[in-house]
Amino acid sequence: MTKPRNNTLLKALLRQPTKYTPVWLMRQAGRYLPEYNKTRARAGDFLSLCKNPDFATEVTMQPLARFPLDAAILFSDILTIPDAMGLGLYFAEGEGPKFERPLREEWEIRSLAMPDPAVHLNYVMDAVSQIRKTLDNQVPLIGFSGSPFTLACYMIEGCGGTDFRQIKTMLYQRPDLLHHILDINAKSVTAYLNAQIESGAQAVMIFDTWGGVLSHTAYQKFSLHYMTEILAGLKREHDGERVPSIIFTKGGGLWLEGIANSGCDAVGLDWTINISEARRRIGDKVALQGNLDPAILFSTPEVITSEAGKILEDYGNGNGHVFNLGHGISQFTPPEGAQSLVDAVHTLSKKYH
Ligand code: CP3
Repeated sequence: MTKPRNNTLLKALLRQPTKYTPVWLMRQAGRYLPEYNKTRARAGDFLSLCKNPDFATEVTMQPLARFPLDAAILFSDILTIPDAMGLGLYFAEGEGPKFERPLREEWEIRSLAMPDPAVHLNYVMDAVSQIRKTLDNQVPLIGFSGSPFTLACYMIEGCGGTDFRQIKTMLYQRPDLLHHILDINAKSVTAYLNAQIESGAQAVMIFDTWGGVLSHTAYQKFSLHYMTEILAGLKREHDGERVPSIIFTKGGGLWLEGIANSGCDAVGLDWTINISEARRRIGDKVALQGNLDPAILFSTPEVITSEAGKILEDYGNGNGHVFNLGHGISQFTPPEGAQSLVDAVHTLSKKYH
C-alpha cells in the first residue's frame, strides 16, 4: 500500500527526521465546528453519527478541509466496546454518556463477554475502510480505543462526571472482580485495535483518560499493566508499514518512565508537565505527543502563537515530537483558534528540524 503523501506524523511517531513538527488535535472533529453540528443534526444524534460509516467519514474529513492537519482520526467513541458488550450506551442531551445496565452485581460481571469486532463492531471497521478510501493517502489515519481502566470507569460508574466511588470501592474490596473486567477489556481492546489496523488504521492511540485518578501502586496494577498487555498483542506492521502506537494517560506525568517502557512508540502528555523535562526523562526512548493547554485556544492569535512557540522551544531540536493539545479540544473553541495553532506549529517548527 502506498504511503501517505504527507507522512510526517508516522515519521515523527517513529522518531525519524521530518521537515517540520506534525500537528493534529484530540477531538479535532466535533462540536466546535458548525459543519459537524449540521451533520449531527442530519444523523439525529451522536451515536447514529458513529454507527453510520457515511456520516462518520464525512465528519472525520471536516477538520481536514479547514486546516492543514497532519493526521485524520477515526470518528467514533471509546464507548463502542462496552456498547457492543450489551451495556446499553446512550447519550442524554447535554449530559454525556450513560449506560442502561452498568456493572454492579457479580453475576453481571461474570457474564461479561468479549465482543467480536467483525460482528458487533463492524460499523467501525466499515468507517475505517471508507475513511481510508476518502483520504486517498492525503494524511495517515489514526485508529483508537479507550484503555481497559478508563472503559471500566464508565462500565461500573454507569456515567461520566462521578467521584469514582463505585470503581474504587471495587478496586479495594473486590480486586478480583475488577481484574476480571480489565482482563476482558484488554482482550477486547487488542482485538478491536488489530481489526482497525487490518481495516486501514495507520497508527493507533489508547486513551487512558482516567488512569490519573489512581494511586501510584494502583495505576501500575490496574491501568498500565493492561495497556502493556495490549501493546504486546498489537500488530506492529500492516501492508509492509510499521503501525506506531501512542499511549495517553491524562495526569500520567508522574509515571512517564513506566509508560515509556510499556512497549508503545509514543507517549501523549497533558499540559501539566513541561515537555522539555518529559524529553529529558524519556524522549530518547519514545516520541512525545502534546501538550498545549486546550484553554489557550480561547486566546488571541498572538497568544496562541507564542504559547505554541514555547512548547516547540521546550521540546527543542530534532525528531520525535508530534504537536497536540494536552486533552480534547473544547466545544466552545472558536475554529479560528485551531487555525492559528496549526499555522503557528507549521511555521515555527521548521527551525528545529
Ligand atoms: O478525536 C476525534 O476527533 C475522534 C473522535 C473522538 C470522540 N470521542 C468523539 C466524541 C474520540 C477520540 C473520543 C474519545 C473519548 N470518548 C474519550 C477519551 C478522550 C477524552 O476526551 O478524554 C472519552 C473519555 C470519551 C467518552 C465520551 N464521549 C464523553 C465523556 C463524551 C461527552 C463529553 C462531551 O464532550 O460532551 C463523549 C461524546 C463525544 N465523543 C462527542 C464527540 C465529538 C460529543 C458528542 C456530541 O456530538 O454531542
